[in-house]
Amino acid sequence: MQEPTDSLEISVWRGDATGGGHIIYQVPRQPSQTILDVVTWIQREQDPQLAYRFSCRVGMCGSCAMMVNGIPRWTCRTHVQKVVQDNQLTIEPLRNLPVIKDLVCDMSEFFTKWKAAGGQFMPRKTRQDPVEPLLPDSPKRAAANAAIECINCAICYAACDVVTWNPGYLGPAALNRAWSLLNDERDSGQQARLEAIASDAGCHNCHSHANCTTYCPNELNPSASIAGLKRLAARAVFTGNL
Ligand code: SF4
Ligand code: SF4
Ligand code: FES
Repeated sequence: MQEPTDSLEISVWRGDATGGGHIIYQVPRQPSQTILDVVTWIQREQDPQLAYRFSCRVGMCGSCAMMVNGIPRWTCRTHVQKVVQDNQLTIEPLRNLPVIKDLVCDMSEFFTKWKAAGGQFMPRKTRQDPVEPLLPDSPKRAAANAAIECINCAICYAACDVVTWNPGYLGPAALNRAWSLLNDERDSGQQARLEAIASDAGCHNCHSHANCTTYCPNELNPSASIAGLKRLAARAVFTGNL
């Protein structure tokens, strides 16, 4: 393990949709310092115009994701000590999303794809109906639960080469969400969701190389969810539902 020194050399991408480049900052090293602490220090002490996004600072909101030394990470939960190399760090906006300014990406296309994949819960019952009992250990509930704790950070989306090659691909987060809902027995939107995930933009684009799963900070497995979608789509073809 590398010995801490007093100062870090931080290369931060600055710019906007028309282009940009890296600027180097010297940042004092602190105990238990996170990448988000580093970015915040630069903005408060050296460059108030640096744009970045965060909210909860405890790994719940998903808004602080950035590329750190080329890897997509949640910066509020990533300690400098874990990722620093020769006292240097490179911090850039998330890959595969348009840049608005500096470290802030435009998330519109990410959430548009959630919608296109049928990512909204469509209840079968109204609030006037009695609450439906759900067996927590049913196989469908277990599958839904395994995919449900997504914080919309887009780290998997930034890690996916297929999104880079085919920007129309719905991507791992939207498909993981669709898998969770396709296993939710309270939902009424299954046919439209099935058609969305089996479309040209859907699960069959996935090459199963699992970068999404490798980097998901919440230890979800979008790659396994997409494999489940492929099985579901194949079954639907044979049963005449697609
Ligand atoms: S497993 Fe599929 S969704 Fe995940 S990173 Fe690879 S191609 Fe993308
Ligand atoms: S699946 Fe994981 S990496 Fe992808 S958006 Fe959700 S929490 Fe983030
Ligand atoms: S600031 Fe909310 S997850 Fe990092």
